[in-house]
Amino acid sequence: MHTLTIIGAQWGDEGKGKITDFLARHAALTVRFQGGNNAGHTITLKDRRFALHLIPSGVFTQGCVNILGQGMVINPKAFLEEIAMLKKAGIATKNIVISDRAHVVLPYHQRFDEALEAIRIDKVGTTFRGIGPAYSDKATRLGIRMADFIQDETRKAHIEALVPHVNRQSEGLGLPLSDVKQLQDDMAVLATELKPFVKPVGDLLHHALYENKKVLFEGAQGTMLCLDNGTYPFVTSSSPTAAGVPLGAGVPPQAVTEVIGVVKAYTTRVGAGAFPTEFNDPIAEQIRQVGREYGTTTGRPRRIGWLDLVVLKHAARTSGITQWALMLVDVLQNIDMLRLCTHYRLNGQEIDHVPASMVQYAQCEPVYTDLQGFKTSLEGISQFEDLPEPLKAYIHKIETVTGVPVGLISTGPERNQTIRCHPFHQLDWEV
Ligand code: IMP
Repeated sequence: MHTLTIIGAQWGDEGKGKITDFLARHAALTVRFQGGNNAGHTITLKDRRFALHLIPSGVFTQGCVNILGQGMVINPKAFLEEIAMLKKAGIATKNIVISDRAHVVLPYHQRFDEALEAIRIDKVGTTFRGIGPAYSDKATRLGIRMADFIQDETRKAHIEALVPHVNRQSEGLGLPLSDVKQLQDDMAVLATELKPFVKPVGDLLHHALYENKKVLFEGAQGTMLCLDNGTYPFVTSSSPTAAGVPLGAGVPPQAVTEVIGVVKAYTTRVGAGAFPTEFNDPIAEQIRQVGREYGTTTGRPRRIGWLDLVVLKHAARTSGITQWALMLVDVLQNIDMLRLCTHYRLNGQEIDHVPASMVQYAQCEPVYTDLQGFKTSLEGISQFEDLPEPLKAYIHKIETVTGVPVGLISTGPERNQTIRCHPFHQLDWEV
Protein backbone atom coordinates (compact mmCIF):
# COMPACT_ATOMS: atom_id res chain seq x y z
CA MET A 1 0.00 0.00 0.00
CA HIS A 2 1.36 3.38 -0.94
CA THR A 3 0.27 5.58 1.94
CA LEU A 4 1.65 8.41 3.97
CA THR A 5 0.38 9.40 7.38
CA ILE A 6 0.93 12.94 8.57
CA ILE A 7 0.99 13.44 12.31
CA GLY A 8 1.57 16.50 14.43
CA ALA A 9 4.40 15.64 16.81
CA GLN A 10 3.86 18.46 19.31
CA TRP A 11 0.80 20.37 20.57
CA GLY A 12 -0.68 21.05 17.14
CA ASP A 13 -0.03 23.98 14.80
CA GLU A 14 3.16 22.39 13.50
CA GLY A 15 2.48 23.31 9.88
CA LYS A 16 0.62 20.17 8.84
CA GLY A 17 -1.50 22.17 6.38
CA LYS A 18 1.50 23.15 4.28
CA ILE A 19 2.99 19.65 4.32
CA THR A 20 -0.31 17.97 3.50
CA ASP A 21 -0.89 20.35 0.61
CA PHE A 22 2.70 19.75 -0.57
CA LEU A 23 2.30 15.97 -0.47
CA ALA A 24 -1.32 15.90 -1.67
CA ARG A 25 -0.17 17.07 -5.10
CA HIS A 26 0.73 13.44 -5.74
CA ALA A 27 -2.11 11.79 -3.82
CA ALA A 28 -5.22 10.20 -5.26
CA LEU A 29 -6.97 10.50 -1.91
CA THR A 30 -6.52 12.58 1.22
CA VAL A 31 -8.33 11.52 4.38
CA ARG A 32 -8.76 13.42 7.62
CA PHE A 33 -9.31 10.88 10.36
CA GLN A 34 -10.11 12.77 13.57
CA GLY A 35 -11.10 16.07 15.14
CA GLY A 36 -13.39 18.72 13.79
CA ASN A 37 -13.31 22.45 13.22
CA ASN A 38 -11.13 22.89 16.31
CA ALA A 39 -8.26 22.41 13.83
CA GLY A 40 -6.87 25.16 11.66
CA HIS A 41 -4.61 24.33 8.75
CA THR A 42 -3.08 27.30 7.00
CA ILE A 43 -2.10 26.92 3.37
CA THR A 44 -0.37 29.59 1.32
CA LEU A 45 -0.73 29.48 -2.45
CA LYS A 46 1.18 32.29 -4.13
CA ASP A 47 -0.27 35.42 -2.54
CA ARG A 48 -3.38 33.71 -1.15
CA ARG A 49 -3.74 32.28 2.36
CA PHE A 50 -6.41 29.74 3.19
CA ALA A 51 -7.41 28.56 6.66
CA LEU A 52 -9.05 25.15 6.52
CA HIS A 53 -10.74 23.76 9.59
CA LEU A 54 -12.54 20.64 8.36
CA ILE A 55 -11.73 19.98 4.73
CA PRO A 56 -8.52 18.05 3.99
CA SER A 57 -5.66 20.08 2.55
CA GLY A 58 -5.70 17.99 -0.65
CA VAL A 59 -8.60 20.17 -1.85
CA PHE A 60 -6.09 22.38 -3.66
CA THR A 61 -4.91 19.46 -5.79
CA GLN A 62 -6.91 18.88 -8.92
CA GLY A 63 -8.38 15.39 -9.04
CA CYS A 64 -7.50 14.51 -5.44
CA VAL A 65 -10.46 13.06 -3.56
CA ASN A 66 -10.79 14.53 -0.08
CA ILE A 67 -12.50 12.46 2.57
CA LEU A 68 -13.72 13.66 5.96
CA GLY A 69 -13.35 10.36 7.76
CA GLN A 70 -15.59 8.49 10.18
CA GLY A 71 -13.44 9.51 13.15
CA MET A 72 -14.32 13.16 12.66
CA VAL A 73 -17.05 15.22 14.30
CA ILE A 74 -18.48 17.68 11.82
CA ASN A 75 -20.36 20.90 12.38
CA PRO A 76 -22.65 21.12 9.32
CA LYS A 77 -22.79 24.92 9.30
CA ALA A 78 -19.01 25.26 9.60
CA PHE A 79 -18.52 22.72 6.82
CA LEU A 80 -20.88 24.53 4.47
CA GLU A 81 -19.20 27.86 5.24
CA GLU A 82 -15.86 26.34 4.33
CA ILE A 83 -17.31 25.04 1.07
CA ALA A 84 -18.67 28.53 0.30
CA MET A 85 -15.27 30.10 1.06
CA LEU A 86 -13.51 27.67 -1.31
CA LYS A 87 -16.07 28.16 -4.07
CA LYS A 88 -15.71 31.92 -3.79
CA ALA A 89 -11.96 31.53 -4.23
CA GLY A 90 -12.54 29.44 -7.35
CA ILE A 91 -11.43 26.12 -5.76
CA ALA A 92 -13.30 23.02 -6.96
CA THR A 93 -15.34 21.33 -4.23
CA LYS A 94 -16.81 18.40 -6.14
CA ASN A 95 -14.20 15.95 -4.86
CA ILE A 96 -15.10 16.38 -1.20
CA VAL A 97 -16.77 13.45 0.53
CA ILE A 98 -18.03 13.13 4.11
CA SER A 99 -18.02 9.60 5.52
CA ASP A 100 -21.57 8.57 6.38
CA ARG A 101 -20.17 7.28 9.69
CA ALA A 102 -18.79 10.66 10.82
CA HIS A 103 -20.62 12.28 13.73
CA VAL A 104 -22.46 15.59 13.78
CA VAL A 105 -21.69 18.54 16.05
CA LEU A 106 -25.00 20.14 17.02
CA PRO A 107 -25.49 23.69 18.32
CA TYR A 108 -25.96 22.55 21.93
CA HIS A 109 -22.56 20.81 21.87
CA GLN A 110 -20.94 24.21 21.57
CA ARG A 111 -22.91 25.61 24.48
CA PHE A 112 -21.95 22.59 26.61
CA ASP A 113 -18.29 23.07 25.66
CA GLU A 114 -18.33 26.56 27.18
CA ALA A 115 -20.35 25.56 30.23
CA LEU A 116 -18.15 22.54 31.03
CA GLU A 117 -15.00 24.62 30.68
CA ALA A 118 -16.44 27.08 33.19
CA ILE A 119 -16.92 24.37 35.84
CA ARG A 120 -13.53 22.69 35.35
CA ILE A 121 -10.87 23.28 38.00
CA ASP A 122 -8.18 22.63 35.38
CA LYS A 123 -9.15 24.89 32.49
CA VAL A 124 -8.34 23.06 29.28
CA GLY A 125 -8.65 26.16 27.13
CA THR A 126 -10.79 24.43 24.51
CA THR A 127 -11.58 26.03 21.19
CA PHE A 128 -15.30 26.12 22.16
CA ARG A 129 -16.26 24.37 18.95
CA GLY A 130 -18.27 21.69 20.78
CA ILE A 131 -15.75 18.97 19.94
CA GLY A 132 -15.50 17.34 23.38
CA PRO A 133 -19.29 17.18 23.95
CA ALA A 134 -19.85 15.76 20.43
CA TYR A 135 -17.31 12.98 21.08
CA SER A 136 -18.88 12.41 24.52
CA ASP A 137 -22.28 11.92 22.91
CA LYS A 138 -20.73 9.54 20.41
CA ALA A 139 -19.25 7.48 23.25
CA THR A 140 -22.47 7.46 25.27
CA ARG A 141 -24.45 6.49 22.15
CA LEU A 142 -26.35 9.76 22.14
CA GLY A 143 -24.69 11.12 19.02
CA ILE A 144 -25.91 11.07 15.46
CA ARG A 145 -24.02 9.81 12.44
CA MET A 146 -24.10 11.66 9.13
CA ALA A 147 -25.98 8.78 7.51
CA ASP A 148 -28.85 9.31 9.94
CA PHE A 149 -28.57 13.10 10.02
CA ILE A 150 -29.25 13.48 6.30
CA GLN A 151 -32.38 11.26 6.49
CA ASP A 152 -35.38 13.36 7.52
CA GLU A 153 -37.06 10.61 9.53
CA THR A 154 -34.07 9.58 11.61
CA ARG A 155 -32.82 13.13 12.18
CA LYS A 156 -36.25 14.32 13.33
CA ALA A 157 -36.69 11.33 15.64
CA HIS A 158 -33.22 11.85 17.08
CA ILE A 159 -33.78 15.52 17.84
CA GLU A 160 -37.21 14.86 19.27
CA ALA A 161 -35.98 12.13 21.58
CA LEU A 162 -32.84 13.90 22.66
CA VAL A 163 -33.78 17.51 23.20
CA PRO A 164 -35.72 16.92 26.47
CA HIS A 165 -32.62 15.23 27.88
CA VAL A 166 -30.36 17.97 26.51
CA ASN A 167 -32.62 20.61 28.04
CA ARG A 168 -32.54 18.97 31.47
CA GLN A 169 -28.74 19.09 31.32
CA SER A 170 -28.85 22.66 30.01
CA GLU A 171 -31.04 23.73 32.91
CA GLY A 172 -28.59 22.24 35.37
CA LEU A 173 -25.75 24.14 33.74
CA GLY A 174 -27.71 27.40 33.53
CA LEU A 175 -27.71 27.33 29.71
CA PRO A 176 -30.43 28.50 27.34
CA LEU A 177 -32.79 25.69 26.35
CA SER A 178 -32.98 24.29 22.82
CA ASP A 179 -36.24 24.89 21.00
CA VAL A 180 -37.20 21.61 19.32
CA LYS A 181 -39.04 23.24 16.41
CA GLN A 182 -36.24 25.73 15.72
CA LEU A 183 -33.58 23.03 15.90
CA GLN A 184 -35.60 20.76 13.59
CA ASP A 185 -36.00 23.56 11.05
CA ASP A 186 -32.38 24.71 11.17
CA MET A 187 -31.01 21.19 10.90
CA ALA A 188 -33.38 20.31 8.05
CA VAL A 189 -31.93 23.15 5.96
CA LEU A 190 -28.35 22.14 6.74
CA ALA A 191 -29.01 18.43 6.16
CA THR A 192 -30.40 19.15 2.68
CA GLU A 193 -27.28 21.08 1.74
CA LEU A 194 -25.01 18.47 3.28
CA LYS A 195 -26.63 15.45 1.65
CA PRO A 196 -24.72 15.47 -1.67
CA PHE A 197 -21.40 15.26 0.21
CA VAL A 198 -22.29 12.32 2.48
CA LYS A 199 -21.40 8.88 1.14
CA PRO A 200 -20.12 5.48 2.24
CA VAL A 201 -16.34 5.62 1.77
CA GLY A 202 -15.31 2.05 2.65
CA ASP A 203 -15.23 0.74 -0.93
CA LEU A 204 -13.55 3.83 -2.26
CA LEU A 205 -10.74 3.56 0.28
CA HIS A 206 -10.41 -0.19 0.00
CA HIS A 207 -9.98 -0.07 -3.77
CA ALA A 208 -7.57 2.85 -3.63
CA LEU A 209 -5.38 1.04 -1.09
CA TYR A 210 -5.29 -2.30 -2.89
CA GLU A 211 -4.74 -0.68 -6.27
CA ASN A 212 -1.68 0.98 -4.74
CA LYS A 213 -2.99 4.46 -5.27
CA LYS A 214 -1.32 7.10 -3.14
CA VAL A 215 -3.41 7.77 -0.06
CA LEU A 216 -2.58 10.47 2.43
CA PHE A 217 -3.91 10.35 5.99
CA GLU A 218 -4.01 13.86 7.42
CA GLY A 219 -3.91 14.29 11.19
CA ALA A 220 -5.12 17.39 12.99
CA GLN A 221 -3.89 18.70 16.37
CA GLY A 222 -0.81 16.84 17.66
CA THR A 223 0.50 13.94 19.73
CA MET A 224 0.57 15.90 22.99
CA LEU A 225 -3.13 16.70 22.54
CA CYS A 226 -4.03 13.02 22.09
CA LEU A 227 -6.70 11.82 24.50
CA ASP A 228 -4.53 8.81 25.45
CA ASN A 229 -0.92 9.73 24.66
CA GLY A 230 -1.16 13.42 25.46
CA THR A 231 -1.01 15.68 28.49
CA TYR A 232 -4.43 14.69 29.88
CA PRO A 233 -6.64 16.51 30.84
CA PHE A 234 -5.14 19.31 28.70
CA VAL A 235 -5.89 17.47 25.49
CA THR A 236 -8.49 17.26 22.76
CA SER A 237 -11.02 14.42 22.64
CA SER A 238 -9.69 12.34 19.76
CA SER A 239 -6.54 10.43 18.80
CA PRO A 240 -4.27 12.53 16.58
CA THR A 241 -1.54 9.85 16.52
CA ALA A 242 -0.98 7.23 13.80
CA ALA A 243 -3.02 4.84 15.93
CA GLY A 244 -6.04 7.01 15.15
CA VAL A 245 -5.78 6.28 11.42
CA PRO A 246 -7.24 2.75 11.21
CA LEU A 247 -10.29 3.64 13.30
CA GLY A 248 -10.76 7.18 12.11
CA ALA A 249 -10.37 6.45 8.40
CA GLY A 250 -11.84 2.95 8.52
CA VAL A 251 -8.80 1.14 7.09
CA PRO A 252 -6.75 -1.81 8.35
CA PRO A 253 -3.72 -1.10 10.59
CA GLN A 254 -1.43 -2.29 7.77
CA ALA A 255 -2.49 0.78 5.82
CA VAL A 256 -0.27 2.83 8.10
CA THR A 257 3.14 2.42 6.51
CA GLU A 258 5.23 5.59 6.42
CA VAL A 259 4.55 8.18 9.11
CA ILE A 260 5.77 11.74 8.76
CA GLY A 261 6.00 13.54 12.09
CA VAL A 262 5.49 17.24 11.46
CA VAL A 263 7.42 19.32 13.92
CA LYS A 264 8.18 22.97 14.34
CA ALA A 265 11.82 23.92 14.76
CA TYR A 266 10.73 25.24 18.17
CA THR A 267 7.59 24.52 20.22
CA THR A 268 4.25 26.27 20.63
CA ARG A 269 1.14 25.55 22.59
CA VAL A 270 -2.28 27.20 22.77
CA GLY A 271 -4.52 26.52 25.71
CA ALA A 272 -3.48 25.57 29.20
CA GLY A 273 -1.22 22.86 30.62
CA ALA A 274 2.41 22.21 31.57
CA PHE A 275 4.96 23.15 28.93
CA PRO A 276 8.51 22.51 30.21
CA THR A 277 10.47 24.44 27.56
CA GLU A 278 8.21 27.51 27.58
CA PHE A 279 9.99 30.83 27.90
CA ASN A 280 8.90 34.45 27.90
CA ASP A 281 11.48 37.01 26.85
CA PRO A 282 12.23 39.19 23.79
CA ILE A 283 13.44 36.13 21.83
CA ALA A 284 10.10 34.38 22.47
CA GLU A 285 8.31 37.52 21.27
CA GLN A 286 10.55 37.61 18.18
CA ILE A 287 9.60 33.99 17.40
CA ARG A 288 5.91 34.78 17.94
CA GLN A 289 6.04 37.76 15.56
CA VAL A 290 8.22 36.23 12.85
CA GLY A 291 6.39 32.87 13.00
CA ARG A 292 2.96 34.58 13.19
CA GLU A 293 2.21 32.45 16.22
CA TYR A 294 -1.45 33.26 16.74
CA GLY A 295 -4.16 30.55 16.66
CA THR A 296 -5.76 29.94 13.23
CA THR A 297 -9.05 28.99 14.86
CA THR A 298 -9.22 31.32 17.84
CA GLY A 299 -6.61 34.03 17.15
CA ARG A 300 -5.05 33.48 20.60
CA PRO A 301 -1.30 34.24 20.94
CA ARG A 302 0.52 30.92 21.15
CA ARG A 303 2.87 30.12 24.01
CA ILE A 304 6.48 29.74 22.84
CA GLY A 305 9.16 27.25 23.90
CA TRP A 306 12.45 25.77 22.73
CA LEU A 307 12.35 22.53 20.75
CA ASP A 308 11.59 19.69 23.16
CA LEU A 309 13.15 16.43 21.99
CA VAL A 310 11.53 14.45 24.81
CA VAL A 311 8.20 15.36 23.22
CA LEU A 312 9.51 14.28 19.82
CA LYS A 313 10.73 10.95 21.19
CA HIS A 314 7.30 10.42 22.76
CA ALA A 315 5.64 11.17 19.39
CA ALA A 316 8.04 8.87 17.54
CA ARG A 317 7.40 6.02 19.97
CA THR A 318 3.63 6.32 19.93
CA SER A 319 3.18 6.81 16.17
CA GLY A 320 6.14 4.89 14.72
CA ILE A 321 7.33 8.06 12.99
CA THR A 322 9.68 7.20 10.12
CA GLN A 323 10.84 10.73 9.31
CA TRP A 324 10.43 14.31 10.44
CA ALA A 325 9.17 17.24 8.44
CA LEU A 326 10.92 20.12 10.18
CA MET A 327 8.87 23.28 9.81
CA LEU A 328 9.37 27.03 10.21
CA VAL A 329 13.14 26.69 10.32
CA ASP A 330 13.50 30.22 8.88
CA VAL A 331 11.84 31.64 12.02
CA LEU A 332 14.98 30.75 14.00
CA GLN A 333 17.17 33.07 11.93
CA ASN A 334 18.93 35.81 13.92
CA ILE A 335 18.86 34.08 17.29
CA ASP A 336 22.35 33.87 18.86
CA MET A 337 21.91 30.61 20.73
CA LEU A 338 19.41 27.82 20.05
CA ARG A 339 18.41 25.49 22.87
CA LEU A 340 17.38 21.85 22.44
CA CYS A 341 15.81 20.04 25.37
CA THR A 342 17.17 16.49 25.43
CA HIS A 343 15.87 15.30 28.84
CA TYR A 344 13.88 16.45 31.83
CA ARG A 345 14.99 16.60 35.43
CA LEU A 346 12.34 15.42 37.88
CA ASN A 347 13.05 15.25 41.61
CA GLY A 348 16.79 15.37 40.95
CA GLN A 349 16.71 12.52 38.42
CA GLU A 350 17.10 12.75 34.65
CA ILE A 351 14.17 11.25 32.79
CA ASP A 352 13.59 10.59 29.11
CA HIS A 353 9.82 10.33 28.92
CA VAL A 354 6.66 12.39 29.40
CA PRO A 355 5.17 11.54 32.82
CA ALA A 356 1.49 10.60 32.88
CA SER A 357 0.80 12.76 35.92
CA MET A 358 0.40 16.39 35.04
CA VAL A 359 1.49 17.34 38.54
CA GLN A 360 4.81 15.64 37.81
CA TYR A 361 4.96 17.05 34.30
CA ALA A 362 4.63 20.56 35.70
CA GLN A 363 7.64 19.82 37.93
CA CYS A 364 9.87 18.66 35.05
CA GLU A 365 12.78 20.97 34.35
CA PRO A 366 14.22 20.91 30.85
CA VAL A 367 17.85 19.82 30.39
CA TYR A 368 19.26 21.73 27.43
CA THR A 369 22.03 21.37 24.89
CA ASP A 370 22.88 24.83 23.58
CA LEU A 371 23.89 25.28 19.98
CA GLN A 372 25.05 28.23 17.94
CA GLY A 373 22.32 30.01 15.97
CA PHE A 374 22.48 31.17 12.35
CA LYS A 375 22.23 34.65 10.84
CA THR A 376 22.15 34.09 7.10
CA SER A 377 18.88 34.05 5.19
CA LEU A 378 17.53 30.70 3.93
CA GLU A 379 15.91 32.41 0.94
CA GLY A 380 16.43 30.42 -2.25
CA ILE A 381 18.15 27.42 -0.60
CA SER A 382 16.88 24.16 -2.09
CA GLN A 383 19.56 21.67 -0.95
CA PHE A 384 20.42 20.53 2.57
CA GLU A 385 24.14 21.00 1.80
CA ASP A 386 23.61 24.73 1.24
CA LEU A 387 22.07 25.39 4.66
CA PRO A 388 24.19 27.37 7.15
CA GLU A 389 26.52 25.06 9.13
CA PRO A 390 25.00 25.87 12.57
CA LEU A 391 21.56 24.94 11.26
CA LYS A 392 22.88 21.66 9.88
CA ALA A 393 24.33 20.90 13.33
CA TYR A 394 20.96 21.70 14.92
CA ILE A 395 19.19 19.31 12.53
CA HIS A 396 21.76 16.55 13.08
CA LYS A 397 21.29 16.86 16.82
CA ILE A 398 17.53 16.39 16.40
CA GLU A 399 18.17 13.25 14.36
CA THR A 400 20.69 11.71 16.74
CA VAL A 401 18.70 12.35 19.91
CA THR A 402 15.36 11.15 18.48
CA GLY A 403 16.74 8.38 16.26
CA VAL A 404 14.48 9.55 13.42
CA PRO A 405 15.87 11.18 10.25
CA VAL A 406 14.69 14.50 8.86
CA GLY A 407 13.06 14.06 5.44
CA LEU A 408 11.67 17.51 4.73
CA ILE A 409 12.73 20.97 5.83
CA SER A 410 10.40 23.91 5.40
CA THR A 411 11.98 27.35 5.06
CA GLY A 412 8.80 29.32 4.31
CA PRO A 413 5.09 28.97 3.68
CA GLU A 414 5.27 28.39 -0.08
CA ARG A 415 5.38 24.94 -1.65
CA ASN A 416 8.75 25.72 -3.27
CA GLN A 417 10.28 26.64 0.10
CA THR A 418 10.71 22.99 0.99
CA ILE A 419 14.01 21.06 1.04
CA ARG A 420 13.84 17.34 0.35
CA CYS A 421 16.39 15.11 2.09
CA HIS A 422 17.40 11.49 1.52
CA PRO A 423 14.67 9.74 3.61
CA PHE A 424 12.01 11.61 1.68
CA HIS A 425 13.44 10.68 -1.72
CA GLN A 426 13.33 7.05 -0.60
CA LEU A 427 9.54 7.19 -0.29
CA ASP A 428 9.18 7.61 -4.05
CA TRP A 429 6.13 9.71 -3.32
CA GLU A 430 6.74 12.24 -6.06
CA VAL A 431 7.24 9.80 -8.94
P1 IMP B 1 -10.77 21.20 21.95
O1 IMP B 1 -10.16 20.33 20.91
O2 IMP B 1 -11.48 22.40 21.38
O3 IMP B 1 -11.62 20.44 22.92
O4 IMP B 1 -9.58 21.84 22.83
C1 IMP B 1 -8.76 21.02 23.66
C2 IMP B 1 -7.32 21.50 23.65
O5 IMP B 1 -6.75 21.23 22.38
C3 IMP B 1 -7.15 23.01 23.88
O6 IMP B 1 -5.95 23.23 24.59
C4 IMP B 1 -7.03 23.56 22.47
O7 IMP B 1 -6.34 24.78 22.44
C5 IMP B 1 -6.24 22.44 21.81
N1 IMP B 1 -6.45 22.36 20.37
C6 IMP B 1 -7.51 21.86 19.71
N2 IMP B 1 -7.33 21.92 18.39
C7 IMP B 1 -6.11 22.45 18.20
C8 IMP B 1 -5.34 22.72 17.02
O8 IMP B 1 -5.73 22.49 15.87
N3 IMP B 1 -4.11 23.27 17.25
C9 IMP B 1 -3.64 23.50 18.49
N4 IMP B 1 -4.31 23.26 19.60
C10 IMP B 1 -5.54 22.73 19.44
